[in-house]
Amino acid sequence: MAKIIGAITTSHIPAIGGAIAKGQQNEPYWKPFFDGYGPVHDWLDRTRPDVAVVFYNDHGLNFFLDKMPTFAIGAAAEYHHADEGWALPVMPSFPGDPTLSWHLIEALVEHGFDMTVCQEMLVDHAFAIPMALLWPGAHRPVRTIPVAINTVLHPLPSPKRCFALGHAIGQAIEAYAPDVKVLIVGTGGLSHQLDGTRAGFINKPFDLQCMDDLVSDPTALTTLSVRQIVELAGSQGTELLNLIAARGALTGEVSKVYGHYHVPISNTATGLLVLEQKPPVPRGVSLAA
Ligand code: DHB
Ligand code: FE
Repeated sequence: MAKIIGAITTSHIPAIGGAIAKGQQNEPYWKPFFDGYGPVHDWLDRTRPDVAVVFYNDHGLNFFLDKMPTFAIGAAAEYHHADEGWALPVMPSFPGDPTLSWHLIEALVEHGFDMTVCQEMLVDHAFAIPMALLWPGAHRPVRTIPVAINTVLHPLPSPKRCFALGHAIGQAIEAYAPDVKVLIVGTGGLSHQLDGTRAGFINKPFDLQCMDDLVSDPTALTTLSVRQIVELAGSQGTELLNLIAARGALTGEVSKVYGHYHVPISNTATGLLVLEQKPPVPRGVSLAA
C-alpha cells in the first residue's frame, strides 16, 4: 500500500530562484535562508519519497483572473515549467504520475470535491522553486502531482475546506494499492503583502504561532476566516491555505522533525517545516500484542 512519509512546508519566493541561478547561496543575505535546507536534504536522503503531491497557488501562469478554479489537480505525464514574468531560468519539465492522479481524482469527486482536472498544466515559481530547494541538483528523483488552490481571486476557499481537501487526498493516498512513498508539500507564505498601503507587512508572532499550529493544533488554523488571514498575514499571506491543505493530508499522529523561520526574503517571511506522521491504526486492528 502507498504510505505518506510526511509533509514539508516551504517558501516559494521568486527571488530564491534568482539566487539559485546566480549561485548566491553563500552570500550574507542568502546564507541564513539556504542553510535552513540542509536538514531537509538529510531527511529526504533518508526517507526517499517516490512521489510528491504539491499544494501551491498559481500566480497567473496556467490560470488567470478570467478563469480561476478554486481547486485544480494535475493528471499529466509531465508538467512544463514556465516563467510568468520574474525572468527566472526555465527548469526542465517535472514528471507526473497519471495513475495516482486519476486515483486521487476519482476519490475526490466521489467525496464531494469537484476538482478542475488538468491533463495539461504549466507550473509556475510556486511549484518549481520548492522543487529546486528540496532537490538542489539537476536530478529530481520524484514524480509529482500539482494541486493548485486559489489563494488569489476572492472569494477564496475557507481554511476549513482546504484542510478537508488535504484530508481527502491523504485518505485516498492511503487507499492506493501500489507500494509508493508519498511526500506532501505545501508552498508559500508565511506573512506577506506585496502591494497596497500595507506593502511589506510581516507578522512574526502570527507566523510562529502558525508554525506551531501546523504541527500540533491545525484546527486553530481551520477556524480562521480568510478575512482574518488577510488581516493577520497580509493579502498574499492567504498562501497559508496551501500549508493548511498539506497538513490536512497527514491523517496520522504528527510530529515535527525540523523547523526553520527566516525573515525577510524579499517582502516575505519564510517558514520551513518537516513533519512526520505515524500512520493511523487501521480500523479493527488491536494494539494489544
Ligand atoms: C514574493 C512572494 C511571493 O509569494 C510571490 O508569489 C511573489 C513574490 C516576494 O516576496 O517577492
Ligand atoms: Fe506567492
